[in-house]
Amino acid sequence: MILFRTKAELARFAAETKRSGKVIGLVPTMGYLHAGHMSLVDTARARADVVIVTLFVNPTQFGPTEDLDRYPRDFERDKKMCEEHKVDVLFAPDTHEMYASDSSTWIEELDLAKPLCGASRPAFYRGVTTVVGKLFHLAQPDFACFGLKDAQQCFVIERMVRDLDFQVEIVPCPLVRDEDGLALSSRNRYLSADERKRALSIHQALVAGRKTLEEKGFSALDEICRTAINSITAAGGRVDYVEGLDRATMKAPTAESREILLAAAVFFGTTRLIDNELVQVK
Ligand code: PAF
Repeated sequence: MILFRTKAELARFAAETKRSGKVIGLVPTMGYLHAGHMSLVDTARARADVVIVTLFVNPTQFGPTEDLDRYPRDFERDKKMCEEHKVDVLFAPDTHEMYASDSSTWIEELDLAKPLCGASRPAFYRGVTTVVGKLFHLAQPDFACFGLKDAQQCFVIERMVRDLDFQVEIVPCPLVRDEDGLALSSRNRYLSADERKRALSIHQALVAGRKTLEEKGFSALDEICRTAINSITAAGGRVDYVEGLDRATMKAPTAESREILLAAAVFFGTTRLIDNELVQVK
């Protein structure tokens, strides 16, 4: 595995790889890798000649009061995991390498990014689309893998790719859970044993919501979200949102909706967790 620290090294490598006709698969991450990330890497490995993983804790997607400084980092462990999963290139720049100190240009998606995490974390998606756009320019991937735990992020990036004509296929990959059902996240390490147990209420509430949604349809969404909020709150969670939105528009579902994203963001202690169910409706 080759380690690049600079944009110039990555861009040169990508241009040479493209010239030789090889397929490049990209997996953007913020590191502190877990089995969810590695499933993206394995998907990329199965399809690409060359797999590039990026490891960059992107400051522009964190708000001023968020957890940028304490975001978990373990470079040596991440590097080892990438080697074990046969990654070809690990790109791990620092902030000064990634952004000029007077950087003033953004990529911003203004529709799908509005609700859910976009409403709670106003800087978040602008930071994500900007850094992902930069990584696409540098790595020139044929495809890029994103996990559906951050389903809204996937949809926002798909829209960015469509609107700005990036020549890259977005490959959404299934959400990966621990054996007990908790969605894997680098932030799970902040949870105490007790908080972790209580946090299982998120998945349980969403699964119950899925069942009701499949039985009763989108008109039951208010009831579904209320019930989910009550049960998560009873387990000690501070609910940021539980909402059901049309997957295609990220707006309130209508009779035309085919797929509903039932999504939640909840604090346990100071840790904000997200989870979702994508539900087909008739
Ligand atoms: O999902 C993440 O880890 C980040 O939002 C991403 C896509 C790597 C951009 O920093």
